[in-house]
Amino acid sequence: MVGCGNSLMSEDMVKDGYEDIMNVDISSVAIEMMRTKHASVPQLKYMQMDVRDMICFEYEYFDTVIDKGQCFSSSALFLFSVLVEKAYVGMMLIKPGGTYFLITYGDPKVRMHHLTPSAYNWNISLYILPRPGFKKPGNSSSSSAKPCLEAIPLTSEGMLPPDYVLEDPDSHFIYICNKKVGEVAQIHPHTH
Ligand SMILES: C[S@@+](CC[C@H](N)C(=O)[O-])C[C@H]1O[C@@H](n2cnc3c(N)ncnc32)[C@H](O)[C@@H]1O
Repeated sequence: MVGCGNSLMSEDMVKDGYEDIMNVDISSVAIEMMRTKHASVPQLKYMQMDVRDMICFEYEYFDTVIDKGQCFSSSALFLFSVLVEKAYVGMMLIKPGGTYFLITYGDPKVRMHHLTPSAYNWNISLYILPRPGFKKPGNSSSSSAKPCLEAIPLTSEGMLPPDYVLEDPDSHFIYICNKKVGEVAQIHPHTH
């Protein structure tokens, strides 16, 4: 879990049966708080670390990397560098057949170019989830937008189809990047 903050997601995953979750955040305050809170939960490990230093983990060490949320208070340049590095680090750390999940408010116009370098060797599917309880404007209470549980068909450039209507402007975009099996990444950490 990269940039875990004080998110409940990891503890919810333990309730769902996940057995070994490494949580990383640059904030020592967040990590200390979460370590104390989950001291009796052996499935959850916490490390204070800049995600861009995670390359110290063994290559292809993790089954999955989950990247939920971004700091909008960061400067644009810093945010850009972290985004690029997170996708890169995610790609290097995941086993073939594993998955990088990016959960964000960023639509494909602002995220896809970070995720699509040809050397990344993964297939990307996009899911869009409206806020829980979001209702289409002007409609009755029974017409809450339903989460779309099917991948959105994307254009060849990885963009939303021109006629796609985003009902909730505050939807979450979930990019599921499945690392291909049997192909070697073209980028080496020391040449990046
Ligand atoms: C918007 S919060 C999201 C927290 C959590 N993932 C969630 O969904 O609630 C972003 C988190 O990323 C962390 N962060 C920002 N830059 C980071 C970096 N370079 N390395 C590790 N964590 C970072 C921040 O400390 C913060 O906890």
